[in-house]
Amino acid sequence: MKAIVVTEQAAGTAGMKLANRPEPQPSINDVVVRIHASGFVPTELTWPSTWTDRLERDRTPSIPGHELAGVVTALGYGTTGLSVGQRVFGLADWYRDGTLAEYVAIEARNLAPLPGDVDFTVGASLPVSGLTAWQGLFQHGRLRAGQSVLAHGAAGAVGSMVTQLAREAGAYVIGSGRAADRQTVLGFGAKEFVDLDNDALEDIGKVDLVFDVIGGDIQKRSAGLIRAGGALVTIVGPAEARPSDGLAIDFVVEADRAQLSEIVQRVRDGRLRTNIGNVSNFNDAVAALNPTGRRKGNTIIRIRP
Ligand SMILES: NC(=O)c1ccc[n+]([C@@H]2O[C@H](COP(=O)([O-])OP(=O)(O)OC[C@H]3O[C@@H](n4cnc5c(N)ncnc54)[C@H](OP(=O)(O)O)[C@@H]3O)[C@@H](O)[C@H]2O)c1
Repeated sequence: MKAIVVTEQAAGTAGMKLANRPEPQPSINDVVVRIHASGFVPTELTWPSTWTDRLERDRTPSIPGHELAGVVTALGYGTTGLSVGQRVFGLADWYRDGTLAEYVAIEARNLAPLPGDVDFTVGASLPVSGLTAWQGLFQHGRLRAGQSVLAHGAAGAVGSMVTQLAREAGAYVIGSGRAADRQTVLGFGAKEFVDLDNDALEDIGKVDLVFDVIGGDIQKRSAGLIRAGGALVTIVGPAEARPSDGLAIDFVVEADRAQLSEIVQRVRDGRLRTNIGNVSNFNDAVAALNPTGRRKGNTIIRIRP
């Protein structure tokens, strides 16, 4: 099968190559999915799991990409819950070959059914950003209606989902980003916008939850804005700051079938908009994953036209 492979961490995305790889075989509780569309998180080539297995052995050449939408073509030994021919979408294991390929072998529990009226491109744009926002807000941040949320990077892939899901849950959302992102962020449902390059973050007052996708100084200053009993939720590594009277939580997103279904249902009924910046075909994928300009939202690769 055709797949994008990486062999050298130092090369970054410039080291991606379209190559031929053996088709994956399903293990216990796996399915094989013929991939129609794939998503890629720009930082994944810096993660150890892209380069080693769980015993820290070299697993290159590895296939990156962890979001997918496609059709089940085979079931592994003992696999239940999905069937051959079913449309699915989901989040692939960090330590296994990923989704920038014609086929992937993946545990069935990492997938949810993709309704027939949702395009594969849309399905592939939801798993990482949607699940990260959902888990950060509701599981880790324990957001409740009436609370206020500072959503950093709110024009980005994760931040746009955070903004929309928090607003739908009845929160007051302040989105942050670059000056040029103001209208985009307000369009996703934020009530206020903070231009991180020109506005004083501290002017927004106190909030119940900060959803951090940036880290560093912005995270540290944001921790000081959290009300007693509130939370700093970050997805860019261990928290470097802690609210004086609240929780600091960092986490890595996990696959969850029920949450994927909640997310896709919101897309179907118009409560949630995707944030797809660039859609490229498989042959042009290496160029699309090495953009020269600023990235906007998700980059999706159409593996099958
Ligand atoms: N832990 C997890 O499970 C998990 C899951 C998903 C993503 N992540 C991580 O979360 C981060 C965000 O991911 P993403 O896919 O949402 O990225 P993204 O689509 O690039 O969104 C990030 C947004 O934040 C903005 N931004 C970043 N630094 C800024 C700054 N100093 N001032 C103003 N705006 C700034 C970016 O603008 P510019 O493009 O102009 O910088 C962009 O609009 C990445 O580091 C990713 O690896 C972690």
